Amino acid sequence: MTDEAQATPAAPLTVLAIGDVVGSAGRRALTRVLPQLRADLAPDLVIVNGENASGGIGINVRAVDEITRAGADVITLGNHAYRQHDVHRLLNDRETILRPANHLASQPGHGSCVVTTAGGTRIGVVNLQGNVFMESGRHAFSEIDAVIAKLRKQADHIIVDFHAEATSEKVAMGWHLDGRVSAVVGTHTHVPTADLRVLPEGTAYITDLGMTGSRAGVIGMERDASVRRFVTHMHQRYEPAEKDPWLMGVKLTLDPEVPMRALAIEQLLIPAS
Ligand code: FE2
Repeated sequence: MTDEAQATPAAPLTVLAIGDVVGSAGRRALTRVLPQLRADLAPDLVIVNGENASGGIGINVRAVDEITRAGADVITLGNHAYRQHDVHRLLNDRETILRPANHLASQPGHGSCVVTTAGGTRIGVVNLQGNVFMESGRHAFSEIDAVIAKLRKQADHIIVDFHAEATSEKVAMGWHLDGRVSAVVGTHTHVPTADLRVLPEGTAYITDLGMTGSRAGVIGMERDASVRRFVTHMHQRYEPAEKDPWLMGVKLTLDPEVPMRALAIEQLLIPAS
């Protein structure tokens, strides 16, 4: 057999994971930046956390449509998953919108899905929520073990969006899952961390993706009210901030031959104005 006749190796897979879309500024930033990213990087899958997409708290059906039109294949959520009531039915009906897997079984929706890429690779996506400083129905670490046991037979790669407050809990989850999933990406704090890397057993990891929203505020919300609350210790009404919107997230490169192995993780920090 000649060299030319040998099969060319499969191309690595590209997955984009985009941090929490906050309010209309976040939705606009996503609509402005993501189509170009899709054109430039030709990702096999795009995962967007939409937890704060509507008014900064929760997601409604209109925002689901907007985020989907911008180019999201899978939408993940978090602690505000049920805040907008009109989305509850969609959480039950649409396979590719996820709320944390360790919420109560009685709450609407489901926590994982498997998407088959155009090239035929099966990628599992799991949404999970932390237990430290957060009200999650069940224990995150035992829940993810159960979800992986189920998905391992159905997926070549697994990406986990771990929506959690404490950096220690997120780092621990990265080590807990190293070698068993392809990536663990943290969400919820809205502040991108500089600790992205591929862990020794092949799992790509970052403590937090950051947010897709206004950098002019305080983690996406209007800054005067937020500062006033810290100064006065009095409740303030929060609105999403508008100016200086950015898209934040990561580009994951996954091994086309070895299941549950990442080759690289790169940060995306892109101004949208
Ligand atoms: Fe959150």
